[in-house]
Amino acid sequence: MSKGNFYITTPIYYPSSNLHIGHTYTTVAADAMARFKRLSGFDVMFLTGTDEHGQKLQTVAKEKGMQPKEYIDTIVSGIKDLWGTMEISYDHFIRTTDEEHKRRVQEIFKKLYEKGDIYKGEYEGWYCTPCESFWTETQVEDGKCPDCGRPVQKTKEEAYFFKLSKYQDKLLQLFEENPEFLEPVSRKNEMINNFIKPGLEDLCISRTSFDWGIKVPIDEKHVIYVWLDALSNYITALGYPEEMDGKYKKYWPADIHLVGKEIVRFHTIIWPAMLMALDLPLPKKVFGHGWILLEGGKMSKSKGNVVDPVVLVDRYGIDALKYFLLREYSFGQDGVFTNEVLLNRINSDLANDLGNLVSRTVAMIEKYNKGIIPEAKTSTEFDEDLKTIATGVCAKLEEKMNNLDYSNALEEIWKLVRRTNKYIDETTPWVLAKDEAEKEKLNTVLYNLAESIRIISVLILPFMHTTSKKIWGQLGIEEGNGTAWEDTFTFGKLPSGVKVKKEAPLFPRIDIPKELEALEATNKKPEPKKEEKKEIPQKPEITIDDFDKVDLKVGQILECKKHPKADKLLVSQVKIGTEVRQIVSGIAKHYKPEELVGRKVIVVTNLKPIKLRGEESRGMILAAGDGKELTLVTADIEDGSQVS
Ligand code: MSP
Repeated sequence: MSKGNFYITTPIYYPSSNLHIGHTYTTVAADAMARFKRLSGFDVMFLTGTDEHGQKLQTVAKEKGMQPKEYIDTIVSGIKDLWGTMEISYDHFIRTTDEEHKRRVQEIFKKLYEKGDIYKGEYEGWYCTPCESFWTETQVEDGKCPDCGRPVQKTKEEAYFFKLSKYQDKLLQLFEENPEFLEPVSRKNEMINNFIKPGLEDLCISRTSFDWGIKVPIDEKHVIYVWLDALSNYITALGYPEEMDGKYKKYWPADIHLVGKEIVRFHTIIWPAMLMALDLPLPKKVFGHGWILLEGGKMSKSKGNVVDPVVLVDRYGIDALKYFLLREYSFGQDGVFTNEVLLNRINSDLANDLGNLVSRTVAMIEKYNKGIIPEAKTSTEFDEDLKTIATGVCAKLEEKMNNLDYSNALEEIWKLVRRTNKYIDETTPWVLAKDEAEKEKLNTVLYNLAESIRIISVLILPFMHTTSKKIWGQLGIEEGNGTAWEDTFTFGKLPSGVKVKKEAPLFPRIDIPKELEALEATNKKPEPKKEEKKEIPQKPEITIDDFDKVDLKVGQILECKKHPKADKLLVSQVKIGTEVRQIVSGIAKHYKPEELVGRKVIVVTNLKPIKLRGEESRGMILAAGDGKELTLVTADIEDGSQVS
């Protein structure tokens, strides 16, 4: 029977071609929670997706010579591939370019407008394009965005506004009466003191300066501000407002919106105010997690220092990366990533603690009992202590997970892993094995070891399901046979008589210095900046007859000198068949006269003669270039030849 419904969301990502380990962090955490809730009996809805509108994306697509949607499609498929590689168990992937979403956001806009919570006015202020955020005069610091530090632009335009100020008191009340609404608590004080108390201004929610967005339904010159569009995804994905009896009814309000700390403001001020205006219930919790930083600060594509999760997954597997991310860092706080920290964690917790426990146990069952899991018939104080600890983890794990304390949730499981390893040292099976009289005791030890490992394999399911399945293979059990959440409450579920199967180590030990070198070599260097291609204007179309009017011939330069009165010009004597004519060309910056002698070039021979600073020019020598560099167009063929 289901314990109830559980709805968890990640932020919807800006389509970016290299989502790094920081983005992976949010999604891995949401995935572990979704898996944990499913395992412990909830009916889960896990939503993720992409946030695809806004000026920035329109500009990038244009630079690439593509339509925004065409460009974004390629990136989104890369993001889906990444989540596929990481085996992220989302139930729905929403794209803000989905037709249903667009329609539903327009409905939301209309509702707010009809209610009087949206009005038309004039926006004047500062806009940060990369963050898609408006800032007031007092918020801008030295002309820079207070979030990202990049320059902001002054903007003035007719716009629609959302009456955010109207919700000031209600928002304050929300924070004061619901300590669980925003966690960790430190972020709550920041919201109250830095944003709500100084006074909320109405929010500009439409733009006219670009058009890559959802159109304002009552005024199509405007597109809806990306954050209003994006935040709405949490309810449009459930069918709101068109289908109120299906997923919306089942899952709203959300149990957890998982977000990075820099977007807490949007989720705990703008989003609840929108929901209040729509008369909808508020999400139960917004959790603002910390950032994964590098020693040099934030990861950024331009610094070329992003850590690519795919490289790490390829080398160490999904489970090692997921375990590391959730165990190493305290979820509410920032943490620093280094390859060394990652490798040490894998070696100590995964290769040594868990990996060794499994391989030693299976090896001992093979050696001392022909690979068959024996029955446990005896009991000592060590056995009882192990059983108590093993069956007590589930409650502690549940408590930590409900507090989104992933690191300590895993630590609770690892206490059992370490306790079980210690049990081997306490019971010394290799000594028991030497004495036939101790056979029953030895059997008990072997069974208890295998049984503890079974419990561990179920407890780690939300975080490392691939490893769980490998362990079941080694213990000779099938999924469904002692692998349910309830099966961690009781010791003794593992059937005896089953044959174990030794496999390759779960986590091979890493030679850290060698591996650090290898990782260093795979480090992505910043891509060399591509020279910006200057757009060459296209001339109006001509017909073949127009082209035919131009007489192009190959000519050979016999003599060349500088123009006596103009620095930019060269004066050449050009032989075209039997005729030699003088041509003046503006190429002195690119060629010395002596470099041209002997060259065969293409000449427009029927151009009307003109005098250039006193020197007659009968024709024009063709050259190609981008305005900065220039090269003569040459032809290795007899002079006088016709070019057509
Ligand atoms: N599109 C908005 C969210 C709209 S939700 C209605 C957005 N997208 S994002 O792609 O920039 O970020 C998505 C998530 O990745 C955020 O929660 C952000 O905090 C997280 N991370 C990006 N870099 C990060 C780290 N270096 N470390 C941890 N998380 C970080 O914001």
